[in-house]
Amino acid sequence: MDDVGQSQGGDEGRQSKAPLIIGVGASAGALASIERFFSKLRLNPDQAVVLVLQYRDAIEDTRLREALQRSEGARLSEISDGQLVEGGAIHLCPSDMITTVHGDRFAVRRAEQARAERATIDSFLVSLAEERAEESIGVVLAGTGGDGTLGVATLKDHGGLAIAERIGDGQSNPHDEGNSAAAIADFVLPPEAIPEHIDVYARHLRRLEEKQGFDEVLAAAATSLARIADILRNKTGNDFHGYKQNTFLRRVQRRMQVVQIDDISAYVDFLRNDKDEAQHLFNDLLIGVTEFFRDKKEFDVLETQVIPKIFEGKGAGQQVRVWVLGCATGEEAYSIGILLREHMAGLDSVPQVQIFATDIDGRALAAARVGRYRTSIETDMTPDRLARWFVREGDTYCVVKELREMCIFSQHNVIKDAPFSKLDLISCRNLLIYLNAELQNRVIPLFHFALLPDRFLFLGNSENVTRHPKLFAPVDRRA
Ligand SMILES: C[S@@+](CC[C@H](N)C(=O)[O-])C[C@H]1O[C@@H](n2cnc3c(N)ncnc32)[C@H](O)[C@@H]1O
Repeated sequence: MDDVGQSQGGDEGRQSKAPLIIGVGASAGALASIERFFSKLRLNPDQAVVLVLQYRDAIEDTRLREALQRSEGARLSEISDGQLVEGGAIHLCPSDMITTVHGDRFAVRRAEQARAERATIDSFLVSLAEERAEESIGVVLAGTGGDGTLGVATLKDHGGLAIAERIGDGQSNPHDEGNSAAAIADFVLPPEAIPEHIDVYARHLRRLEEKQGFDEVLAAAATSLARIADILRNKTGNDFHGYKQNTFLRRVQRRMQVVQIDDISAYVDFLRNDKDEAQHLFNDLLIGVTEFFRDKKEFDVLETQVIPKIFEGKGAGQQVRVWVLGCATGEEAYSIGILLREHMAGLDSVPQVQIFATDIDGRALAAARVGRYRTSIETDMTPDRLARWFVREGDTYCVVKELREMCIFSQHNVIKDAPFSKLDLISCRNLLIYLNAELQNRVIPLFHFALLPDRFLFLGNSENVTRHPKLFAPVDRRA
């Protein structure tokens, strides 16, 4: 491996197209994992690795370089602002900086926040996902805490591949709890096994492009959509026939990439015969589209007409209990938390408030627990709220601790698991739409049972409980 330092451009003419970028996030304590990963990595001239270290200066530089030199065929390159992403290079992000990718170049700026609040890995991986979509791979080695979780979620959302390091014997299920990238990743593997998966995926990508290109793949998949929805209905009991076609296709195509199948009819067979694939596709389809204060007018009604009533007659020593079902990546639970806190700020005596936030999807919950979001949330709320309830971390926003501590996230299936009880508010938005009439008729009485008398149920815009007039009456008919 030779050091090309700050070179710009490299072997002109060798690359006909931008290299496939493999973003690798690691903590400074992960030198052993870094060694294990790079010792098996064989970088092709049309691939580039970008190594983002949380506290790079905590690793001795010569040891780091030794570890990276284990990789065959790669040059080492220190990233500077505006530098071109080069194939065949391991690009090293500088210390104390936020590095992102824009087009074919890196952008580097000084990190303004304290060390623990920089989201260096997430900032890079989010930019990678947004720039390169399917043509991106993210690897997060163990020990980064929650940094990397948002990045992995965004990569998957944009069609890229996400791999995390497996620690221990692999017996425990990383999806069960926690907030790490491993809870969301497509593959969770020991470091030395990751390069092989990258290699297979990269070859598959190139094959796809040579053969037809993504648009053609999508067009071919569209013809098989109904069959795929049939299989999903049979195997998971959930009906996606009416699901938005483009989103559906993107998810199917992403799964085809992950399982390395190029041909849509071969994928339909695989979906039919493999014992786990229907569940994987189902999980990817569920990745909830959600946002802060989704449906602003309805949240206004909640804020002005409902929340004051919830606190009436409740003071210190008493409890306010809220259940947010189908909370996905946490935006709705935190939105309600913000409204509750803002109301509490005007009270002399405040009760203890707890928000139980649940979802069937353990991966979404991992992201919810971290409470870190992309900068696009700026448009979801007023600048005042953003400033009061979020901390800027690199190119992300993180929910303040006081709000995070109010919310307890846990996995729960509304169809099977016992409900919470003695609740003041249930928020179940855009979840009933997944359930058929029979299931809705089963869960709505459960909500009534779980609530204290004369308390509140908050539904999504296209949902209602008009078939249960004895149980619920509208507070605001329009909302
Ligand atoms: C479209 S998202 C809605 C997110 C959020 N409530 C909102 O309105 O923005 C639907 C969520 O429901 C969850 N979900 C689907 N079926 C579920 C079930 N049976 N039990 C619990 N959660 C479920 C999905 O995992 C997904 O996160």
